[in-house]
Amino acid sequence: MIEALKVSEVRTQVEMARSRGEVVGFVPTMGALHYGHISLINKALTECDWVASSIFVNPTQFNDPNDLLHYPRTPENDWSLLVQAGCHLLFHPSVPEIYPEGLISPDFEFGPLEKVMEGAHRPGHFKGVATVVFRLFDIVKPDVAYFGEKDFQQLAIIRSMVQQANLPIRIVGCETIREPDGLAKSSRNVRLSPNERSAAPIIFQNLSKAKGLIDDLGPDGAKNEMIKSIEASGLFKVEYLEFADADSLQPVASISKEKKSRVFIAVKASTTRLIDNVELL
Ligand code: PAJ
Repeated sequence: MIEALKVSEVRTQVEMARSRGEVVGFVPTMGALHYGHISLINKALTECDWVASSIFVNPTQFNDPNDLLHYPRTPENDWSLLVQAGCHLLFHPSVPEIYPEGLISPDFEFGPLEKVMEGAHRPGHFKGVATVVFRLFDIVKPDVAYFGEKDFQQLAIIRSMVQQANLPIRIVGCETIREPDGLAKSSRNVRLSPNERSAAPIIFQNLSKAKGLIDDLGPDGAKNEMIKSIEASGLFKVEYLEFADADSLQPVASISKEKKSRVFIAVKASTTRLIDNVELL
């Protein structure tokens, strides 16, 4: 695997792949890699000839300076996971390499998409995500880019950004990879205390039974039940719990068979914030 620290090195390598007639896949990350990230690399490798990944802890998408400061960094482990997976290039830039002085970034507008859930609770977060992904796309110029459904709203924002900028990039959403006990894999899981970690599967357990609860109790009753169950240990506080349309991500008052909807949640533990979502089937 080639490691590139500079934009110019990435451009050279991508041009070489293109001159060989290869389809270029791309998986942007913030590092602290786990099998959730690697599943995106694996998917990219099945669909593309040449796969680049990036590790960049993007300061512009952190609305909480403490979260940025404590974001886990595991460079050696990241390197060996990417090599084992068969990734061709790792782009590991510095902040000035991504945001050189004078860089002008397009100002995307996501309307209602960024006013709900993560957008409502993390002001500026999605603007930061769109800015960095647009910049990374401009550097790598992939044919296809892979994002996890774990961050379902982020995936919707990226699709909207690609549409607004009319980029010739296919966006692929990949299913959420979970621990054996159901907790969605996340770089932030290592920041849970042992007690929080062992109680955390309650989140996915509740998401999994949401549809049944809605059928029995209606959406509001289901929400109350789920929040009560998740908060019962005293270790977690539910920041939001929404039943929302899978395309617009706007809240739905009822679940219909005709239109796909999902349940979305953000939960705060002492020093960690966890998000998850599942389709309401
Ligand atoms: P990061 O949190 O490192 O995630 C990188 C990619 O891995 C995202 O597309 C995310 O949805 C996916 N991912 C994380 N956990 C996953 C899991 N358990 N199952 C499947 N996919 C999973 O998301 C970001 O970084 C950043 O916002 C980024 C897009 C890189 C922009 O800075």
